[in-house]
This record gives sequence, structure tokens and C-alpha cells, in this order.
Amino acid sequence: MTEIALNKRQYLELEKIGLGALAPLEGFMTEPAFTSVVGRMRLPSGEVFPLPVTLDVDRVTADQIVPGRTIGLWYQGTRVGEVDAADVYTCDKVEVAAQVYGTSERTHAGVAHFNRMGSHFVGGRARLLDRVRLEFSDHELTPAQTRVAFAERGWSTIAGFQTRNVPHRAHEYLQRTALEVVDGLFIQPLVGYKKRGDYQPLAVLAGYRALLETCFPPERVLFGVLSTSMRYAGPREAVFHAIIRRNYGCTHFVVGRDHAGVGGYYGKYAAHQLTRRFDGELGIEVLRLSGPFYCRACGAIATEKTCRHLVEQPEVTHEISGSDMRRLLSGDGQPAPELMRPEVVSSLKGLRLFVEEDEA
Ligand code: ADX
Repeated sequence: MTEIALNKRQYLELEKIGLGALAPLEGFMTEPAFTSVVGRMRLPSGEVFPLPVTLDVDRVTADQIVPGRTIGLWYQGTRVGEVDAADVYTCDKVEVAAQVYGTSERTHAGVAHFNRMGSHFVGGRARLLDRVRLEFSDHELTPAQTRVAFAERGWSTIAGFQTRNVPHRAHEYLQRTALEVVDGLFIQPLVGYKKRGDYQPLAVLAGYRALLETCFPPERVLFGVLSTSMRYAGPREAVFHAIIRRNYGCTHFVVGRDHAGVGGYYGKYAAHQLTRRFDGELGIEVLRLSGPFYCRACGAIATEKTCRHLVEQPEVTHEISGSDMRRLLSGDGQPAPELMRPEVVSSLKGLRLFVEEDEA
């Protein structure tokens, strides 16, 4: 039997397929699925699916794969799964990147990551046979576990919250807004591959521990990480994130400003527009929320819907930008308390805050 040694990104993809987090996928995309997803954001069945989920290999491995045969998948010395190889294919990465990420520029973190993948893809039904314990496994819940947890708490409406950042006041505002309209909030920071300069997962965990201990009623919030790669695909990834949270049992999903964005590649609310296109089809309701800012005149976090000063006196409003927070925290500065809670800032002391190198 052909055997493939997976890297962490590939293992996590297999694991998420096996746990049902990427339903309706039951394996790695075959060429027809890949082409359909890239071209029209739908699986051949017609179901919405906006991003490719593939098993990439190099040319040498690709040459050894016989369609119709089963391939053993290994990670860290464990036989973690199998894939029934249906096909082996390649693609024009420049063209695919342009469609998926809206650009083929190599400076785009998602495109760079996609370009580092192998040249060929193996498609086919996959089985997860064994799970490997990873650094953040203790903080992760499976879709089956979250569904039980939601039921135990008696929640019938649950908002999922995706993040890759230490929480600032705009995040908190979005979370509070969601909590006003649903029974429970599931905060699920992503801890898989992140680009250089993004927060280390431990920093995000510390920040959330501080926020949760300080603020929210514990019986209304569930916390658990999601170990999968950031793809930095902006609007398409917002749809992808919504589908994943549906699979974890959420009924609502928060999409704010520049969701899963990077650099200036996507419009601030492009993810609102794209998710709107699929309303009624995703099996989850998207809560499209506009960017909260701090207004000195109101003395509060507000939005364009609740504050007059953005138009009348924009100089008293202060945008809350994750990049600004990161810049301050990486230097000697400190984010102002109205932008990031002091408890959250203190929780970061002594931690390595940022990812220093891009991984495979
Ligand atoms: S990411 O996964 O979307 O990249 P991030 O941590 O930056 O994670 O944001 C989490 C959620 O909060 C996303 O829905 C994003 O759109 C929203 N968000 C982050 N910062 C702001 C902000 N300043 N204003 C409005 N929404 C924001």
C-alpha cells in the first residue's frame, strides 16, 4: 500500500474531515469538486462550498499513486487515516489563486501558503483512524462535543465567533451584540497555521481567559479552539468559517469588518456581500455586524448605527484596528484601555506574542 506522511496542515485537514467539521465533505476534493469549488463556490452537488480542501503531494509521490487504491496516511509515527484515491490532478496555481484569493500576488499570505503546497492533489473519500494529541487538544471540542454542550446548556440559538486575534474592544462589542440576540456564544479562535506576525495561539488563549474571567456570564459562553489553517481568503473564508460553525451546531455566525482579511486585499465589507449571496443556503444565519469604534464624545464603543459623531465629528472617533494593537504590543507601547482591556493586556506579559516564521 502506498503511504503518505502528512504535515501538520494536512493532518488537521484529515482530522476535520473525519470529525465532520467540514461536512458535507467526506474526503479530499477530487478534480471535479476542486474545479467546481474554485469556479463557482459550489460542490458538484450544488451545495455551497467556497474553498478547496485538498491533499497535496509532490510529483514523485503523485507518480506512485494508482487511482482506485487505498493510501495509508501517517502523522508523527501514527497511522492516522486512509484515503481511497479516486484521482490525482494538478492545477494552474496562478489561475486558481486569482479565483480563490482574488489575487495571485505572492505577497498575499494565503497565496504564498498555497504556492508552498505540493504540485499535485489526491482526491478521494478519507477515513480518520486515529487522532494525534497536539499542543492545543485540551482546549478543543469536536462537533459532537459542542452539540452536546449546547444541548446541556439548553441553548437553542448559538452564535459562533471566529477569531485569530487577542480580543480587543471591537471583538468584545460584536460578542456582546451577538449575546443580545442568541442564547449562547461559542468563541472559537483558530489555532492552526497562521502567517508570520499573527498572534501565537497561547497569547490568544491568555487574552480570552482574561476576558472571560472578567466579563461574560460563564453560563452564556463556551470556549474552544479550532485547529485548522487560516487561509486569508477574506470573503470566501467567511463563508467557509460559517459552514464550519454550522457543523459545530451553531445557528448564527458573526461576520464583522474585513473577516479573514490580510493586507488591503479585500473590501471592509466584502464578506458581508458574499455571505448575503448565500443567505438561506448555508444552514446558519450570518450576523453581519458593522465595525465598532471608540467615540470620545459618546465615551463608548459605538457604530455608525448608534453614533452621530462619525459623520459630524469624525476626529473624536477612534477606529479599533487589530493591526494597530499588534504594532503597539510588539513595541513598547500599550493599547489604550478603551481599545483593549487592561486585564487582557496584562495577561500577555511574558508571553511570546507573535508567529515568527511561516511554516509549510
Ligand atoms: S479573522 O479570523 O476574521 O481574521 P479577527 O480576529 O480579525 O479574525 O476577527 C474576528 C471577527 O471580528 C471577524 O468577524 C472580523 O470581521 C471581526 N472584526 C475584527 N476586528 C474588527 C473591527 N475592528 N471592527 C469590526 N469587526 C471586526
